[in-house]
Amino acid sequence: MPDEEPMLPSEIREKVLSQHREIEAMLEELRLGASELLQGLETADRVKRAATALRGILELHMAFEERYMAPAIREADGFGPERIRHLQDEHEEQRADLDRLVDAIRDAAKPQDIAAAVHKLVDILKKDIDEEERDYVNEDLLRDTLVPSDTFGG
Ligand SMILES: [Fe+2]
Ligand SMILES: [Fe+2]
Repeated sequence: MPDEEPMLPSEIREKVLSQHREIEAMLEELRLGASELLQGLETADRVKRAATALRGILELHMAFEERYMAPAIREADGFGPERIRHLQDEHEEQRADLDRLVDAIRDAAKPQDIAAAVHKLVDILKKDIDEEERDYVNEDLLRDTLVPSDTFGG
């Protein structure tokens, strides 16, 4: 693999934010699917498949954040190591929530049970995204001016 061009903090921030918007769109679709399932307008199978796909997307998203966002945050200020620990704890919790709730969605037989687990999952993930943007994915932490200009001077 050729050397990757290092991403600027602002580029990392933009990418994470655009992934968040895509994930939120998926969450809304999943929530809508669960409502339609209750009205007999959607099949349990399709809702279950959407939930499984969401788990895969979230896993890729968290891996991206751990690979690119975490190093940028670490260098942002003196609280880097604590923030990284917090980010990792949050991701561990999200992975546990995803495992538990996507399994619950997959194993549920009744539409009501599927819809209840979908709503719980959507609420948790939306809250996580909001908190993450408040704590990390913002211009205070991920901005290019934090790179000292003399870094390029030699
Ligand atoms: Fe995250
Ligand atoms: Fe995220």
